[in-house]
Amino acid sequence: MINYPETFINKKGRFIGNVSHSIKYFKDLKNLYLNDDIDDSCKMYEVFLDESSEDELVFGTTIIYPILIQNEFNFTRGHFHENRNKGEYYIGYKGEGLLALMDENQKVSFTYVYPGSINYISGKYAHRLINIGDEEFITHAYFSKEAGHDYDSVTNMPFNIRVLKEDDSIVFADENNNVLEKIRRDVSEQL
Ligand SMILES: [Fe+2]
Repeated sequence: MINYPETFINKKGRFIGNVSHSIKYFKDLKNLYLNDDIDDSCKMYEVFLDESSEDELVFGTTIIYPILIQNEFNFTRGHFHENRNKGEYYIGYKGEGLLALMDENQKVSFTYVYPGSINYISGKYAHRLINIGDEEFITHAYFSKEAGHDYDSVTNMPFNIRVLKEDDSIVFADENNNVLEKIRRDVSEQL
């Protein structure tokens, strides 16, 4: 009587079923980080997408590995949506990280993502995930097939705040490496 879903997420947070899968290696992203002292073949993050719905719904999962590029936390490339009227939900699943949001004027802000957190992202903001923990950071996403991905706008107007590890602190630094703010790394303890 029970039909099991054809697509599901296993206990390791991996998508099983009819999904697309892409892996980003350091060589694909090295120009985004401050330093390039990581092997080109290092796996930085993976994205799984289920676009099999008959309507406009897409479900996605991103796994960001706990890698420091010298002292910079690992992050996703980030994108605007081609259709700025289409937003997205991010749901934290495992580990902890930050969601960087950037408006069309290059103003960047951050929110905390943790298991069970739900972040709505307006289509007007570019979005990037940053792993600030010591384990895999896994986030699920819901968005519309009509949203599209605009990477070029982020290439032309990059996220201008870097997130760095310094002992037990997270440091936010501008493009010239000037410290803008420093917070304790145990963000969850400060909620
Ligand atoms: Fe998106």
